Amino acid sequence: MLKLTSQRLPQLKTETLVVPLCEDRVLFREASLVRLIEKTKGIRTFTARAGELLDLYQPEGLQTQRIVFAGLGSSLDLTAEGLRQAAGKSIRHAWHAQPGQAVLAVPDTNLPDVLRPERALAAMAEGAYLANHTLTAYKSVTKTVPLKSIRFMVAGAKDRNLRPILARIEKIARGTTLARDWVNLPANAKTPRELARLISRAARQAGVTATLMDATQLKRLKMGALLAVGAGSSHPPKMLILDHKPPRSRETLVLVGKGVTFDAGGLNLKPTGSIEMMKIDMAGAAAVGAAVVAAAELGLKKRVVGVLPMVENMVSGAAFRPGDIVRSYSGQTIEIGNTDAEGRLILADALSYAVKRYKPKHIIDLATLTGACVVALGDRIAGLFSADAPLRDQILQSSEETHERCWSMPLPEDYKDLLKSDLADMRNIGPGRWGGAIVAALFLSRFVGDTPWAHIDIAGPAYTKKAQAYTEAGGTGFGVRLLCDLMERL
Ligand code: BES
Ligand code: ZN
Ligand code: ZN
Repeated sequence: MLKLTSQRLPQLKTETLVVPLCEDRVLFREASLVRLIEKTKGIRTFTARAGELLDLYQPEGLQTQRIVFAGLGSSLDLTAEGLRQAAGKSIRHAWHAQPGQAVLAVPDTNLPDVLRPERALAAMAEGAYLANHTLTAYKSVTKTVPLKSIRFMVAGAKDRNLRPILARIEKIARGTTLARDWVNLPANAKTPRELARLISRAARQAGVTATLMDATQLKRLKMGALLAVGAGSSHPPKMLILDHKPPRSRETLVLVGKGVTFDAGGLNLKPTGSIEMMKIDMAGAAAVGAAVVAAAELGLKKRVVGVLPMVENMVSGAAFRPGDIVRSYSGQTIEIGNTDAEGRLILADALSYAVKRYKPKHIIDLATLTGACVVALGDRIAGLFSADAPLRDQILQSSEETHERCWSMPLPEDYKDLLKSDLADMRNIGPGRWGGAIVAALFLSRFVGDTPWAHIDIAGPAYTKKAQAYTEAGGTGFGVRLLCDLMERL
């Protein structure tokens, strides 16, 4: 979908041309572009503030129907994220009733030192690709549709080796849109079996081995915690294993994703106001699934295994109860304090299984785990929990690079007492609500042994109520781009 063009403005034929603009400096060398930008000078209603758009129709002497000037603010504050957002916003602005086309002019001068032209191209490509996507399966009529062609106008593109940059971004961003689609599907279309089928299909197409374990196998393996959560649903639990195993790979990275296809809360039923969005409680599994697919498409040299426990947390005569004691795969027993703290239960079994089976160098889980994390960090920043400083630092770097923001949270040893149970080895909740995200992370820590581990609580950023620059309302696919960057780093 993403292409390059080295055509110059006078020859360029397109429906929409997007020209990014700073308040203080012109970001292009080509004389015809500079002249075009000059035309915005006298327009007092447009100042090129970040996020501002200005349309110019049928510009004289050019073969483009419309120019969209996209404001970037001051060039001194310009970042990759600023370009991502400007590109995303303009693409959405260019949508109309038919599949249209757009060309984005990529800045080539006066950029801040940290933003080399290659990085500018990558950022704009990413924003554009991500914005040019929507799930239409459930709409009978659509007013506007994605563009069929997006090209990037880069001076001297022919002589520079820029194709691989676009190809890489396309694979990663496609991962994000895959994850978004899975998250946006309603729970009645993604029972554990159905979701496993969808993710397996994408995985196999990319050359990833997908193995599905059904409830019988999970029983045989004695995954008591996972099975307890799944007991109340007429759609039995599954565990999907995705294995990207390139020849001669030595170290293994395991990614685990919470796959609760609907979290009604179980017998501790969620009230109105909390239950409505709970189809998104598999966003961790979606992100991990899409990241493994992307790893294969990127030809990553390292082995990456995705472990995706999938259940529906429902209410029925067969549901697990508060006060029940279950035996986890690790052998440790857990007293159920609250059936709505189900994510940590399925992750407990997935984590200890993965550690035992794959002996990974690193294990990372992504989960929409706690409302408490959203209270702490809001809905755009994930909580990062890891006692392994090098792993944590790499994740924070990837977070910076991709603008999938994570904030490091503590794992205080003495808080582990909060999980004490009179009867069992531990309870699945603490005595009160305080520090809920930390308590949940400490619970998980008891299932990874000494393996370097990180937990990312994505309950906030997995979903957005309001559309953002390159993210429409709904599932965000948060974590896919972060993991892609990280997999290449680790
Ligand atoms: N799936 C929820 C967490 C969640 C909340 C995700 C908001 C997305 C948005 C999780 O299973 C849950 O219910 N957690 C409880 C834990 C509590 C019972 C200890 C919570 O956060 O209230
Ligand atoms: Zn829950
Ligand atoms: Zn949940």
